[in-house]
Amino acid sequence: MSSIKLCLIVARARNGAIGKDGDLPWRLSDDLIHFKQTTRGCPVIMGRKTWESLPVQPLPGRDNIVLSRDGQYAAPQARVYTSSPAAIAAGRALAAAASKPEFFVVGGEAIYAAALPFADRLYVTEVDTEIEGDAFFPDFDTAAFAETDSRHVEANEKNQFSFTIRTLDRLA
Ligand SMILES: NC(=O)c1ccc[n+]([C@@H]2O[C@H](COP(=O)([O-])OP(=O)(O)OC[C@H]3O[C@@H](n4cnc5c(N)ncnc54)[C@H](OP(=O)(O)O)[C@@H]3O)[C@@H](O)[C@H]2O)c1
Repeated sequence: MSSIKLCLIVARARNGAIGKDGDLPWRLSDDLIHFKQTTRGCPVIMGRKTWESLPVQPLPGRDNIVLSRDGQYAAPQARVYTSSPAAIAAGRALAAAASKPEFFVVGGEAIYAAALPFADRLYVTEVDTEIEGDAFFPDFDTAAFAETDSRHVEANEKNQFSFTIRTLDRLA
C-alpha cells in the first residue's frame, strides 16, 4: 500500500457552494496563501473548468493534471486525462517520482465527488457564509474522518468572510 496521501483541498460555504460563474464566490487572500503553501511542489488534479478559471496556467511549481472527456483538449504545460482513476494514478506516480508525501484534487464538483471515496485527507476551508453558487462540494461521510488540525481566520480587509481551515484525516 502506498503511503502517499490523496488529499482534497476545498473552500466551501455553509451551503456547500464552492464556485459561481466560473470563479470563486469570495475573496479570501489568506486562504489562497494556505492553498499555495499546502500544495507547493505537489501534483494537482483539476477539472477542465477549474483549469480554465486559473488566473495563471499552469499552477506554478506543481505538476498540473487536467480532466476532460475530450481527449484532444489542449492544456498547455499540463497533462490531460479522460478518466479520474487514470488522473489519480498519474498524480500518485508523479508524487512518488518527486518524493512528495501528498498529491491533491483541487476541484471542481464532479472531480471532488469522483475522488472522495479514495481520499486519505481533506483540507476543508469552512467559509462563514451562505452564498449563491453553481458548483458545490459533495456531501460525504463525515464519520469516516477525524479532525486533526484547525485554524480560524477572522474577516478583515484581505478576507471577505471569516473562515476555519480544517484538516480531516480518514480513520483507519
Ligand atoms: N472553492 C474551491 O475550493 C474551488 C475549487 C475548485 C474550483 N472551484 C470553482 O468551481 C467552479 C468549477 O468547478 P465545476 O464543478 O463547475 O467544474 P470542474 O469540475 O472544474 O470541471 C468540469 C469538467 O471536468 C471534466 N470532467 C468532469 N468529470 C470528469 C470525468 N469523470 N472524467 C473526465 N473528465 C471529467 C469535464 O470536462 P469537459 O467538459 O472538457 O469534458 C467537465 O465539464 C468554478 O467556479 C471554480 O472557481 C472552487
